[in-house]
Amino acid sequence: MTPALPGPSETLDPQDWNELRAQGHRMLDDMIDYVARIRERPVWRPIPDEVRARFRAELPRAPSDLADIYREFSQFIAPYATGNVHPGFMGWVHGGGTAVGMLAEMLAAGLNANLGGRDHIPIEVERQIVEWTRAMFGFPHEASGIFVTGTSMANLMAVLVARTAALGQLVRQHGVGREGALLTAYTSTAAHGCISKAMDLAGFGSDALRSMPTDSSHRVDVTEMRAQIARDREIGLKPFLVIGSAGTVDIGAIDDLKALSALCREENLWFHVDGAYGALGVLSPALAPLLAGLESADSIALDFHKWAQVPYDAGFLIVRDGKQHREAFSAPAAYLSRETRGLAAGSPWPCDLGPDLSRGFRALKTWFTLKAFGTEKLGAMIARTCALAGYLEARILAEPRLELLAPVQLNIVCFRYRAADADRMNNDIVADIQESGIAAPSTTTLDGVLAIRAAIVNHRTDVSDVDALVSAVLEFGARRSSDGLAP
Ligand SMILES: Cc1ncc(COP(=O)(O)O)c(C=O)c1O
Repeated sequence: MTPALPGPSETLDPQDWNELRAQGHRMLDDMIDYVARIRERPVWRPIPDEVRARFRAELPRAPSDLADIYREFSQFIAPYATGNVHPGFMGWVHGGGTAVGMLAEMLAAGLNANLGGRDHIPIEVERQIVEWTRAMFGFPHEASGIFVTGTSMANLMAVLVARTAALGQLVRQHGVGREGALLTAYTSTAAHGCISKAMDLAGFGSDALRSMPTDSSHRVDVTEMRAQIARDREIGLKPFLVIGSAGTVDIGAIDDLKALSALCREENLWFHVDGAYGALGVLSPALAPLLAGLESADSIALDFHKWAQVPYDAGFLIVRDGKQHREAFSAPAAYLSRETRGLAAGSPWPCDLGPDLSRGFRALKTWFTLKAFGTEKLGAMIARTCALAGYLEARILAEPRLELLAPVQLNIVCFRYRAADADRMNNDIVADIQESGIAAPSTTTLDGVLAIRAAIVNHRTDVSDVDALVSAVLEFGARRSSDGLAP
Protein backbone atom coordinates (compact mmCIF):
# COMPACT_ATOMS: atom_id res chain seq x y z
CA MET A 1 0.00 0.00 0.00
CA THR A 2 1.41 3.43 -0.93
CA PRO A 3 1.46 5.75 2.08
CA ALA A 4 -0.51 8.95 1.63
CA LEU A 5 1.83 11.83 0.77
CA PRO A 6 1.51 14.87 3.01
CA GLY A 7 0.09 17.97 1.32
CA PRO A 8 2.05 21.16 0.71
CA SER A 9 0.54 22.64 3.88
CA GLU A 10 2.89 20.33 5.81
CA THR A 11 5.92 22.52 4.96
CA LEU A 12 6.97 25.15 7.46
CA ASP A 13 6.59 27.98 4.99
CA PRO A 14 3.79 30.47 5.65
CA GLN A 15 0.38 29.93 4.08
CA ASP A 16 0.27 33.64 3.32
CA TRP A 17 3.59 35.25 2.40
CA ASN A 18 2.08 38.74 2.40
CA GLU A 19 0.99 38.34 5.99
CA LEU A 20 4.48 37.17 6.94
CA ARG A 21 6.01 40.07 5.05
CA ALA A 22 3.86 42.61 6.93
CA GLN A 23 4.71 40.98 10.25
CA GLY A 24 8.40 40.91 9.31
CA HIS A 25 8.38 44.61 8.46
CA ARG A 26 6.81 45.38 11.84
CA MET A 27 9.54 43.38 13.58
CA LEU A 28 12.27 45.11 11.63
CA ASP A 29 10.84 48.57 12.32
CA ASP A 30 10.51 47.75 16.01
CA MET A 31 14.08 46.51 16.31
CA ILE A 32 15.43 49.55 14.49
CA ASP A 33 13.46 51.70 16.98
CA TYR A 34 14.77 49.59 19.85
CA VAL A 35 18.35 50.39 18.89
CA ALA A 36 17.68 54.00 17.86
CA ARG A 37 15.83 54.78 21.10
CA ILE A 38 17.94 52.68 23.42
CA ARG A 39 18.64 55.66 25.68
CA GLU A 40 14.96 55.87 26.60
CA ARG A 41 15.18 52.47 28.29
CA PRO A 42 16.88 51.42 31.51
CA VAL A 43 20.23 49.78 30.89
CA TRP A 44 19.03 46.60 32.59
CA ARG A 45 16.07 45.70 34.74
CA PRO A 46 15.53 42.85 37.19
CA ILE A 47 13.31 40.08 35.84
CA PRO A 48 9.96 39.88 37.67
CA ASP A 49 9.11 36.37 38.91
CA GLU A 50 6.04 36.15 36.70
CA VAL A 51 8.10 36.95 33.62
CA ARG A 52 10.71 34.34 34.50
CA ALA A 53 7.89 31.83 35.12
CA ARG A 54 6.64 32.27 31.54
CA PHE A 55 9.85 30.57 30.39
CA ARG A 56 9.07 27.42 32.34
CA ALA A 57 6.18 26.58 29.99
CA GLU A 58 5.29 23.19 28.54
CA LEU A 59 6.76 22.08 25.21
CA PRO A 60 4.45 23.62 22.57
CA ARG A 61 2.77 20.84 20.60
CA ALA A 62 0.38 22.91 18.52
CA PRO A 63 1.30 25.89 16.30
CA SER A 64 0.94 29.46 17.53
CA ASP A 65 0.31 32.59 15.58
CA LEU A 66 3.52 34.47 14.68
CA ALA A 67 1.99 37.80 15.77
CA ASP A 68 1.23 36.34 19.22
CA ILE A 69 4.75 34.92 19.60
CA TYR A 70 6.17 38.28 18.60
CA ARG A 71 3.95 40.02 21.17
CA GLU A 72 5.47 37.72 23.82
CA PHE A 73 8.95 38.61 22.59
CA SER A 74 8.17 42.34 22.78
CA GLN A 75 6.68 42.15 26.26
CA PHE A 76 8.74 39.53 27.98
CA ILE A 77 12.07 39.10 26.17
CA ALA A 78 13.21 42.41 24.68
CA PRO A 79 12.77 44.43 27.91
CA TYR A 80 14.83 41.97 29.94
CA ALA A 81 17.89 41.52 27.73
CA THR A 82 21.47 41.95 29.02
CA GLY A 83 21.52 45.66 28.28
CA ASN A 84 24.80 45.80 26.41
CA VAL A 85 23.19 47.63 23.49
CA HIS A 86 22.76 50.53 25.93
CA PRO A 87 25.53 53.13 26.23
CA GLY A 88 25.34 52.89 30.03
CA PHE A 89 26.47 49.27 29.96
CA MET A 90 30.05 49.09 31.24
CA GLY A 91 30.16 45.66 32.85
CA TRP A 92 32.50 42.82 31.93
CA VAL A 93 33.68 43.29 28.29
CA HIS A 94 30.60 43.60 26.10
CA GLY A 95 30.35 45.11 22.66
CA GLY A 96 27.26 47.18 21.85
CA GLY A 97 26.46 45.80 18.39
CA THR A 98 25.27 48.00 15.54
CA ALA A 99 22.14 48.31 13.43
CA VAL A 100 24.26 47.34 10.42
CA GLY A 101 25.35 44.13 12.13
CA MET A 102 21.76 43.39 13.07
CA LEU A 103 20.62 43.67 9.46
CA ALA A 104 23.50 41.48 8.31
CA GLU A 105 22.42 38.82 10.82
CA MET A 106 18.98 38.82 9.27
CA LEU A 107 20.46 38.34 5.80
CA ALA A 108 22.69 35.54 7.07
CA ALA A 109 19.70 33.81 8.63
CA GLY A 110 17.86 34.07 5.32
CA LEU A 111 20.71 32.36 3.45
CA ASN A 112 20.97 29.76 6.23
CA ALA A 113 24.46 28.92 5.00
CA ASN A 114 26.47 26.18 6.67
CA LEU A 115 30.12 27.24 6.73
CA GLY A 116 31.63 23.92 7.74
CA GLY A 117 32.78 23.57 4.16
CA ARG A 118 31.83 23.11 0.49
CA ASP A 119 32.19 25.54 -2.39
CA HIS A 120 29.96 28.57 -1.93
CA ILE A 121 30.48 32.31 -1.60
CA PRO A 122 29.81 32.53 2.16
CA ILE A 123 33.06 30.56 2.61
CA GLU A 124 34.83 33.11 0.41
CA VAL A 125 33.43 35.89 2.61
CA GLU A 126 34.97 34.17 5.65
CA ARG A 127 38.25 33.80 3.74
CA GLN A 128 38.05 37.51 2.96
CA ILE A 129 37.88 38.26 6.68
CA VAL A 130 40.83 35.93 7.27
CA GLU A 131 42.74 37.93 4.68
CA TRP A 132 41.73 41.26 6.22
CA THR A 133 42.65 40.04 9.71
CA ARG A 134 45.97 38.82 8.35
CA ALA A 135 46.56 42.31 6.96
CA MET A 136 45.55 44.00 10.26
CA PHE A 137 48.17 42.02 12.18
CA GLY A 138 50.86 41.86 9.51
CA PHE A 139 50.70 38.06 9.37
CA PRO A 140 52.18 36.20 6.36
CA HIS A 141 50.15 34.78 3.45
CA GLU A 142 50.34 31.24 4.83
CA ALA A 143 48.34 32.32 7.87
CA SER A 144 44.92 30.82 8.38
CA GLY A 145 41.99 31.89 10.47
CA ILE A 146 38.53 30.88 11.51
CA PHE A 147 35.46 32.31 13.22
CA VAL A 148 34.51 30.68 16.50
CA THR A 149 32.08 31.51 19.29
CA GLY A 150 34.51 33.65 21.27
CA THR A 151 38.03 34.02 22.58
CA SER A 152 37.52 31.24 25.16
CA MET A 153 37.15 28.81 22.26
CA ALA A 154 39.90 30.48 20.23
CA ASN A 155 42.32 30.18 23.16
CA LEU A 156 41.46 26.51 23.59
CA MET A 157 42.06 25.91 19.88
CA ALA A 158 45.39 27.75 20.05
CA VAL A 159 46.49 25.49 22.91
CA LEU A 160 45.55 22.48 20.76
CA VAL A 161 47.49 23.82 17.76
CA ALA A 162 50.52 24.46 19.99
CA ARG A 163 50.15 20.98 21.48
CA THR A 164 50.14 19.32 18.03
CA ALA A 165 53.08 21.45 16.95
CA ALA A 166 55.03 20.35 20.05
CA LEU A 167 54.14 16.65 20.07
CA GLY A 168 53.50 15.95 16.39
CA GLN A 169 50.28 14.85 14.73
CA LEU A 170 50.35 11.41 16.35
CA VAL A 171 49.23 13.09 19.59
CA ARG A 172 45.78 13.18 18.03
CA GLN A 173 45.76 9.41 17.85
CA HIS A 174 47.62 8.46 21.00
CA GLY A 175 46.71 11.31 23.32
CA VAL A 176 49.23 13.47 25.15
CA GLY A 177 50.81 10.46 26.87
CA ARG A 178 53.94 10.61 29.00
CA GLU A 179 55.66 13.27 26.94
CA GLY A 180 52.57 15.45 27.00
CA ALA A 181 52.44 15.16 30.78
CA LEU A 182 55.75 17.04 30.84
CA LEU A 183 54.57 19.99 28.74
CA THR A 184 54.20 23.31 30.55
CA ALA A 185 52.71 26.63 29.47
CA TYR A 186 53.30 30.14 30.79
CA THR A 187 51.06 33.13 31.24
CA SER A 188 50.43 35.80 33.87
CA THR A 189 48.30 35.87 37.00
CA ALA A 190 46.26 38.56 35.21
CA ALA A 191 45.39 36.25 32.30
CA HIS A 192 41.74 35.38 31.68
CA GLY A 193 40.42 32.24 33.38
CA CYS A 194 39.59 30.62 30.04
CA ILE A 195 43.32 29.98 29.53
CA SER A 196 43.54 27.76 32.57
CA LYS A 197 40.31 26.09 31.41
CA ALA A 198 41.87 25.56 27.98
CA MET A 199 44.83 23.74 29.55
CA ASP A 200 42.38 21.60 31.48
CA LEU A 201 40.23 20.82 28.41
CA ALA A 202 43.29 20.08 26.27
CA GLY A 203 44.24 17.31 28.67
CA PHE A 204 47.28 18.94 30.30
CA GLY A 205 45.49 19.97 33.47
CA SER A 206 45.50 23.50 34.75
CA ASP A 207 48.54 22.76 36.95
CA ALA A 208 50.63 22.63 33.78
CA LEU A 209 49.99 26.36 33.39
CA ARG A 210 52.48 28.55 35.21
CA SER A 211 50.83 31.84 36.19
CA MET A 212 53.68 34.29 36.51
CA PRO A 213 53.60 37.43 38.66
CA THR A 214 52.93 40.84 37.18
CA ASP A 215 54.27 44.32 37.85
CA SER A 216 52.15 47.08 39.35
CA SER A 217 50.64 47.73 35.89
CA HIS A 218 49.55 44.06 35.61
CA ARG A 219 52.11 43.29 32.88
CA VAL A 220 53.72 39.91 33.16
CA ASP A 221 57.21 39.76 34.64
CA VAL A 222 59.16 38.43 31.65
CA THR A 223 62.40 38.00 33.63
CA GLU A 224 60.60 35.81 36.13
CA MET A 225 58.98 33.86 33.30
CA ARG A 226 62.41 33.21 31.75
CA ALA A 227 63.73 32.02 35.11
CA GLN A 228 60.73 29.72 35.62
CA ILE A 229 61.23 28.22 32.17
CA ALA A 230 64.88 27.51 33.05
CA ARG A 231 63.88 25.94 36.40
CA ASP A 232 61.26 23.80 34.68
CA ARG A 233 63.71 22.60 32.03
CA GLU A 234 66.18 21.68 34.76
CA ILE A 235 63.72 19.31 36.37
CA GLY A 236 62.89 17.68 33.05
CA LEU A 237 59.69 19.52 32.15
CA LYS A 238 59.09 20.64 28.56
CA PRO A 239 57.98 24.26 28.18
CA PHE A 240 55.99 24.57 24.94
CA LEU A 241 53.75 27.62 25.07
CA VAL A 242 53.64 31.22 26.25
CA ILE A 243 50.34 33.10 26.32
CA GLY A 244 50.56 36.88 26.42
CA SER A 245 47.63 39.19 27.11
CA ALA A 246 46.79 42.11 24.86
CA GLY A 247 44.33 43.77 27.21
CA THR A 248 43.85 41.93 30.50
CA VAL A 249 40.28 41.42 31.55
CA ASP A 250 40.61 43.17 34.91
CA ILE A 251 42.33 46.43 34.02
CA GLY A 252 43.29 46.32 30.32
CA ALA A 253 47.03 45.79 30.72
CA ILE A 254 49.06 44.82 27.66
CA ASP A 255 52.00 42.51 28.28
CA ASP A 256 55.35 43.41 26.77
CA LEU A 257 54.59 41.42 23.63
CA LYS A 258 57.96 42.19 22.05
CA ALA A 259 59.82 40.77 25.04
CA LEU A 260 57.55 37.71 25.13
CA SER A 261 58.06 37.15 21.43
CA ALA A 262 61.86 37.36 21.86
CA LEU A 263 61.69 34.93 24.78
CA CYS A 264 59.68 32.48 22.70
CA ARG A 265 62.15 32.70 19.84
CA GLU A 266 65.10 32.09 22.18
CA GLU A 267 63.39 29.20 23.90
CA ASN A 268 61.63 27.79 20.83
CA LEU A 269 58.16 28.13 22.34
CA TRP A 270 54.78 28.74 20.71
CA PHE A 271 53.76 32.38 21.27
CA HIS A 272 50.01 32.84 21.55
CA VAL A 273 48.33 36.15 22.37
CA ASP A 274 44.94 36.46 24.03
CA GLY A 275 43.79 39.63 22.32
CA ALA A 276 40.11 39.13 23.11
CA TYR A 277 39.30 42.79 22.91
CA GLY A 278 42.70 44.53 22.98
CA ALA A 279 44.14 43.11 19.77
CA LEU A 280 41.84 45.26 17.64
CA GLY A 281 43.56 48.27 19.19
CA VAL A 282 45.86 47.91 16.15
CA LEU A 283 43.14 49.76 14.22
CA SER A 284 43.91 52.94 16.16
CA PRO A 285 47.21 54.60 15.20
CA ALA A 286 47.40 55.92 18.78
CA LEU A 287 47.04 52.48 20.38
CA ALA A 288 48.89 50.32 17.83
CA PRO A 289 52.37 51.05 19.27
CA LEU A 290 51.24 49.58 22.62
CA LEU A 291 50.69 46.29 20.80
CA ALA A 292 54.15 46.06 19.23
CA GLY A 293 55.18 42.42 19.10
CA LEU A 294 51.68 41.18 18.26
CA GLU A 295 52.78 40.84 14.63
CA SER A 296 55.28 38.14 15.64
CA ALA A 297 52.82 35.93 17.52
CA ASP A 298 52.28 32.37 16.33
CA SER A 299 48.56 32.77 16.95
CA ILE A 300 46.13 35.43 18.16
CA ALA A 301 42.67 34.98 19.67
CA LEU A 302 40.29 37.94 19.37
CA ASP A 303 36.65 38.88 19.34
CA PHE A 304 35.02 41.01 16.67
CA HIS A 305 32.01 41.13 19.02
CA LYS A 306 33.88 43.29 21.54
CA TRP A 307 35.67 46.44 20.34
CA ALA A 308 34.61 45.96 16.70
CA GLN A 309 30.93 45.96 17.79
CA VAL A 310 29.92 43.02 15.59
CA PRO A 311 26.79 41.44 17.12
CA TYR A 312 27.39 38.30 19.21
CA ASP A 313 29.04 36.03 18.52
CA ALA A 314 32.12 36.61 16.40
CA GLY A 315 35.26 35.20 18.01
CA PHE A 316 38.28 34.56 15.82
CA LEU A 317 41.53 32.63 15.80
CA ILE A 318 44.38 33.48 13.44
CA VAL A 319 47.40 31.19 13.15
CA ARG A 320 50.66 32.29 11.52
CA ASP A 321 51.34 28.91 9.90
CA GLY A 322 48.17 27.60 8.29
CA LYS A 323 49.70 24.14 7.85
CA GLN A 324 50.21 23.76 11.59
CA HIS A 325 46.67 24.97 12.12
CA ARG A 326 45.25 22.33 9.78
CA GLU A 327 47.42 19.60 11.29
CA ALA A 328 45.69 20.15 14.62
CA PHE A 329 42.15 19.72 13.31
CA SER A 330 41.74 18.26 9.83
CA ALA A 331 40.36 14.74 9.78
CA PRO A 332 39.36 12.82 6.65
CA ALA A 333 35.89 11.32 6.43
CA ALA A 334 34.26 9.56 3.48
CA TYR A 335 31.13 11.67 3.79
CA LEU A 336 33.24 14.84 3.65
CA SER A 337 35.27 13.86 0.61
CA ARG A 338 36.82 16.77 -1.29
CA GLU A 339 36.50 17.16 -5.04
CA THR A 340 38.03 19.44 -7.63
CA ARG A 341 34.63 20.41 -9.06
CA GLY A 342 31.04 20.68 -7.91
CA LEU A 343 29.83 21.70 -4.48
CA ALA A 344 32.40 19.50 -2.69
CA ALA A 345 35.33 21.53 -4.11
CA GLY A 346 37.25 24.35 -2.43
CA SER A 347 39.30 22.39 0.12
CA PRO A 348 40.61 23.09 2.73
CA TRP A 349 37.33 23.81 4.44
CA PRO A 350 36.77 25.59 7.75
CA CYS A 351 36.01 22.24 9.38
CA ASP A 352 39.73 21.48 8.83
CA LEU A 353 40.61 24.39 11.11
CA GLY A 354 38.58 23.70 14.22
CA PRO A 355 36.32 21.26 16.02
CA ASP A 356 33.04 22.44 14.45
CA LEU A 357 31.53 20.94 11.33
CA SER A 358 28.24 22.82 11.09
CA ARG A 359 28.93 26.53 11.45
CA GLY A 360 26.89 29.68 10.90
CA PHE A 361 27.73 32.68 8.75
CA ARG A 362 29.44 34.88 11.41
CA ALA A 363 31.62 36.26 8.66
CA LEU A 364 28.73 38.16 7.03
CA LYS A 365 28.01 40.52 9.94
CA THR A 366 31.76 41.09 10.29
CA TRP A 367 32.11 41.77 6.55
CA PHE A 368 29.22 44.26 6.68
CA THR A 369 30.70 45.94 9.77
CA LEU A 370 34.20 46.30 8.33
CA LYS A 371 32.86 47.59 5.01
CA ALA A 372 30.17 49.89 6.45
CA PHE A 373 32.48 51.67 8.88
CA GLY A 374 35.98 51.03 7.57
CA THR A 375 38.91 50.33 9.86
CA GLU A 376 39.77 54.02 10.30
CA LYS A 377 36.41 54.84 11.84
CA LEU A 378 36.49 51.69 13.95
CA GLY A 379 39.98 52.64 15.15
CA ALA A 380 38.80 56.15 16.04
CA MET A 381 35.81 54.71 17.94
CA ILE A 382 38.15 52.37 19.85
CA ALA A 383 40.44 55.28 20.75
CA ARG A 384 37.38 57.24 21.90
CA THR A 385 36.40 54.53 24.40
CA CYS A 386 39.91 54.87 25.86
CA ALA A 387 39.56 58.66 26.02
CA LEU A 388 36.28 58.22 27.91
CA ALA A 389 38.06 55.90 30.34
CA GLY A 390 40.64 58.67 30.80
CA TYR A 391 37.80 61.10 31.50
CA LEU A 392 36.34 58.72 34.11
CA GLU A 393 39.79 58.38 35.68
CA ALA A 394 40.05 62.17 35.93
CA ARG A 395 36.59 62.40 37.53
CA ILE A 396 37.61 59.79 40.12
CA LEU A 397 40.92 61.50 40.90
CA ALA A 398 39.07 64.78 41.42
CA GLU A 399 36.52 63.27 43.80
CA PRO A 400 37.75 62.64 47.37
CA ARG A 401 34.95 60.13 48.05
CA LEU A 402 36.29 57.89 45.27
CA GLU A 403 39.55 55.97 44.98
CA LEU A 404 41.23 54.77 41.80
CA LEU A 405 42.39 51.16 42.25
CA ALA A 406 44.48 50.55 39.15
CA PRO A 407 46.24 52.56 36.46
CA VAL A 408 44.01 53.21 33.46
CA GLN A 409 45.83 51.85 30.42
CA LEU A 410 43.11 51.31 27.86
CA ASN A 411 39.35 51.48 28.34
CA ILE A 412 38.90 49.88 31.78
CA VAL A 413 38.63 51.80 35.04
CA CYS A 414 38.67 50.15 38.47
CA PHE A 415 37.74 52.25 41.47
CA ARG A 416 35.68 52.28 44.63
CA TYR A 417 33.68 54.41 46.98
CA ARG A 418 35.69 55.04 50.14
CA ALA A 419 34.00 53.42 53.12
CA ALA A 420 34.84 51.41 56.20
CA ASP A 421 33.45 48.08 54.95
CA ALA A 422 34.44 48.98 51.42
CA ASP A 423 34.14 45.55 49.81
CA ARG A 424 30.58 44.96 50.94
CA MET A 425 29.61 48.56 50.32
CA ASN A 426 30.95 48.66 46.76
CA ASN A 427 29.44 45.30 45.91
CA ASP A 428 26.07 46.67 47.02
CA ILE A 429 26.57 49.93 45.17
CA VAL A 430 27.14 48.02 41.92
CA ALA A 431 23.97 45.97 42.41
CA ASP A 432 22.05 49.16 43.33
CA ILE A 433 23.21 50.87 40.15
CA GLN A 434 22.41 47.86 37.99
CA GLU A 435 18.91 47.61 39.48
CA SER A 436 18.33 51.34 39.07
CA GLY A 437 18.81 50.99 35.31
CA ILE A 438 21.15 54.02 35.26
CA ALA A 439 24.30 52.11 34.33
CA ALA A 440 25.71 48.59 34.46
CA PRO A 441 29.25 48.40 35.81
CA SER A 442 30.55 45.07 37.15
CA THR A 443 33.02 44.18 39.89
CA THR A 444 36.39 42.51 40.18
CA THR A 445 38.90 41.91 42.95
CA LEU A 446 42.34 43.55 42.72
CA ASP A 447 44.96 42.65 45.33
CA GLY A 448 42.20 41.32 47.56
CA VAL A 449 40.13 44.50 47.27
CA LEU A 450 36.73 44.63 45.59
CA ALA A 451 36.62 47.16 42.78
CA ILE A 452 33.82 48.73 40.77
CA ARG A 453 34.88 48.01 37.23
CA ALA A 454 33.80 50.10 34.24
CA ALA A 455 34.88 48.71 30.87
CA ILE A 456 33.94 51.22 28.18
CA VAL A 457 33.54 49.05 25.11
CA ASN A 458 30.25 50.27 23.68
CA HIS A 459 30.63 52.76 20.79
CA ARG A 460 27.50 54.62 22.00
CA THR A 461 28.92 55.46 25.43
CA ASP A 462 29.39 59.19 25.89
CA VAL A 463 30.58 61.68 28.51
CA SER A 464 27.03 61.92 29.90
CA ASP A 465 27.02 58.14 30.56
CA VAL A 466 30.31 58.38 32.44
CA ASP A 467 28.92 61.31 34.46
CA ALA A 468 25.76 59.31 35.20
CA LEU A 469 27.87 56.43 36.51
CA VAL A 470 29.92 58.69 38.78
CA SER A 471 26.77 60.42 40.13
CA ALA A 472 25.12 57.06 40.75
CA VAL A 473 28.13 55.71 42.66
CA LEU A 474 28.22 58.85 44.82
CA GLU A 475 24.47 58.85 45.37
CA PHE A 476 24.10 55.18 46.26
CA GLY A 477 27.28 55.33 48.33
CA ALA A 478 25.97 58.30 50.32
CA ARG A 479 22.54 56.73 50.69
CA ARG A 480 23.98 53.49 52.01
CA SER A 481 26.30 55.36 54.41
CA SER A 482 23.50 57.55 55.79
CA ASP A 483 21.05 54.63 56.03
CA GLY A 484 23.58 52.93 58.22
CA LEU A 485 23.58 50.07 55.72
CA ALA A 486 27.34 50.09 55.87
CA PRO A 487 29.36 50.71 59.01
C1 LIG B 1 41.20 39.04 27.99
C2 LIG B 1 40.05 38.14 27.73
N1 LIG B 1 40.28 36.88 27.31
C3 LIG B 1 39.27 36.03 27.04
C4 LIG B 1 37.96 36.42 27.18
C5 LIG B 1 36.86 35.45 26.86
O1 LIG B 1 36.26 35.84 25.65
P1 LIG B 1 34.84 35.28 25.23
O2 LIG B 1 33.89 35.79 26.27
O3 LIG B 1 34.58 35.86 23.89
O4 LIG B 1 34.91 33.80 25.22
C6 LIG B 1 37.67 37.72 27.62
C7 LIG B 1 36.29 38.15 27.81
O5 LIG B 1 36.00 39.24 28.22
C8 LIG B 1 38.75 38.60 27.89
O6 LIG B 1 38.53 39.87 28.28
